[in-house]
Amino acid sequence: MCGIIGIIGKAPVTPLLLDALKRLEYRGYDSAGVATLVNGHIDRRRAEGKLVNLEARLKAEPLPGTIGIGHTRWATHGKPSERNAHPIATDRVAIVHNGIIENFQELKDGLVAEGRRFDSDTDTEVVAQLLTSYLESQMSPEEAMGKAMARLRGAFALVALFSGRHDILMGARRGSSLAVGYGDGEMYIGTDALALAPFTSRVSYLEDDDWAVLKADGATVYQGTQKVKRPIKKSGLSSALIGKGNHQHFMLKEIHEQPTVIGDTLQSYLDPATRSVSLPALPFDWNKVSRVTITGCGTACYAGMIAKYWFEKLARLAVEVDVASEMRYREPPLPDGGVCIAVSQSGETVDTLEALRYAQSQKQTLLSVVNVPESAIARLSDVVLPTLAGPEIGVASTKAFTTQLVVLLAAAIAAGRARGTLSRDEEERLVLAMIELPARVNETLNMEEDYRRIAENTLAAARDVLYLGRGSSFPVALEGALKLKELSYIHAEGYAGGEMKHGPIALIDDEVPVVVVAPTDPIFDKIASNFEQVRARGGRLVLLSDKAGVARLGAKAETSIMMPDVDPIVAPILYTVAVQLLAYYTALAKGTDIDQPRNLAKSVTVE
Ligand code: F6R
Repeated sequence: MCGIIGIIGKAPVTPLLLDALKRLEYRGYDSAGVATLVNGHIDRRRAEGKLVNLEARLKAEPLPGTIGIGHTRWATHGKPSERNAHPIATDRVAIVHNGIIENFQELKDGLVAEGRRFDSDTDTEVVAQLLTSYLESQMSPEEAMGKAMARLRGAFALVALFSGRHDILMGARRGSSLAVGYGDGEMYIGTDALALAPFTSRVSYLEDDDWAVLKADGATVYQGTQKVKRPIKKSGLSSALIGKGNHQHFMLKEIHEQPTVIGDTLQSYLDPATRSVSLPALPFDWNKVSRVTITGCGTACYAGMIAKYWFEKLARLAVEVDVASEMRYREPPLPDGGVCIAVSQSGETVDTLEALRYAQSQKQTLLSVVNVPESAIARLSDVVLPTLAGPEIGVASTKAFTTQLVVLLAAAIAAGRARGTLSRDEEERLVLAMIELPARVNETLNMEEDYRRIAENTLAAARDVLYLGRGSSFPVALEGALKLKELSYIHAEGYAGGEMKHGPIALIDDEVPVVVVAPTDPIFDKIASNFEQVRARGGRLVLLSDKAGVARLGAKAETSIMMPDVDPIVAPILYTVAVQLLAYYTALAKGTDIDQPRNLAKSVTVE
């Protein structure tokens, strides 16, 4: 979704604004712009498409000024064009905005009736026009913002620059994140700590309904008319953490970080000395939990689907997995004593947040598995189990997903122990299997060239690709298909192997690659039958299995990869890395935009 940056500086700010916008590119966008004050007047440069276009505009027409705002826009209201790109401005105020103003039409009708003329198709312009109307009636920027906040509905974050006011920037948030950065006689405001990372490590986070006045020496934060204090925290993010290192893409770097971040996450949730799981104190007793509802979107939801197999098997707990965008409107009855687990990398996904709010209204205990501890989902939850993946910049989730799985498996083991469905010996065996994971993932990464070969020879030229799995490998098949379609734009679907004969098998011919995710687990024989069914119809089989599986089926596949041997419980984590590599190298062969696939945004803060 959109990225926001604002700076009150001592030197020209345009290069810094551009630099911050580059760090926000990961969120996904289709136009960009900056505005500064030049001799007290708002001046701006905007461009459709990628930041290089904006850079070219700025080269042709430089923009001086020591105070300014910048934006990358992911279009919601009004197509991606220069006219709709932010900052949206009148002669009094310029606005950058993330989110949606839900009552924009009603506000616009009133403003048009006042005789105001709109220049864009955006909902954002009502904020600029509303503030202008207040400013023209002699209100100060502070009074105007306070009054506007009371009239705006929806989920948004915005930053405003006022003509004639070199001394202030104002920000406001409801639902979307906004962080304030404290420098030395300079101040910053942006979507997240990543945007601010090289400028300052002293950051405070605005809460819902906060609006803030930034001056060169600090910020004053209000809720309504009341001043409030927001603590300044030390952000651990450094520019090094958010660079690509020696990798061609952030996604490849993040795939390669998995042994490390899985290890870091394991360290937080396992005690290797006692070979046991140690979760933080939970505000509920696993023995009294009536049902677990897991919710999330996209990849995060697939993590929940894998966890369902774990909770059911290890803790004999009833688990429902619900796509957040459906759960929030379906309003399912949730039993007393239930726990709702929200899974989210960003912690800002609006559907997941709203599904969690619904679960709260149903008196569920809220547990979240998130990668951003300051996020809205984390703040709403009764307890947070963080993933220690570090910043994930590639739009397609990789290391966040595998660390979500680590945390969810630890939770399922803890639940099994507490409920007496998992023996101490079993726990030790599973913990040992988890501890071995970073090494096994490393071995998989060492076989990268095999994945490249399959991607180039078998997948890249395909029009359709199917992924099959059974048991906990079924959601891995779904994840493999999602990764392939979002990165390479090849149509791909994941199926539970047993479902093939109920429809999808009609698609099989000698042009359709079928990736079979088949660790030798207790239902290996079943996926082996599905493999034979595809083979009998001439399908092009790509087998992902271990030594025993490849010995049995490898010769019958067009191509196969021998995965390291692991306990079947942790296989979904390892096999996910394999499907990530297949998708990455297929996209590389096709030359698509891997870190920012078309139409996608990293953090989906609008519906
Ligand atoms: C796919 C992907 C998305 C996200 C989804 C939820 O690779 O990354 O499907 O998983 O948009 O995002 P978070 O986890 O931030 O809630």
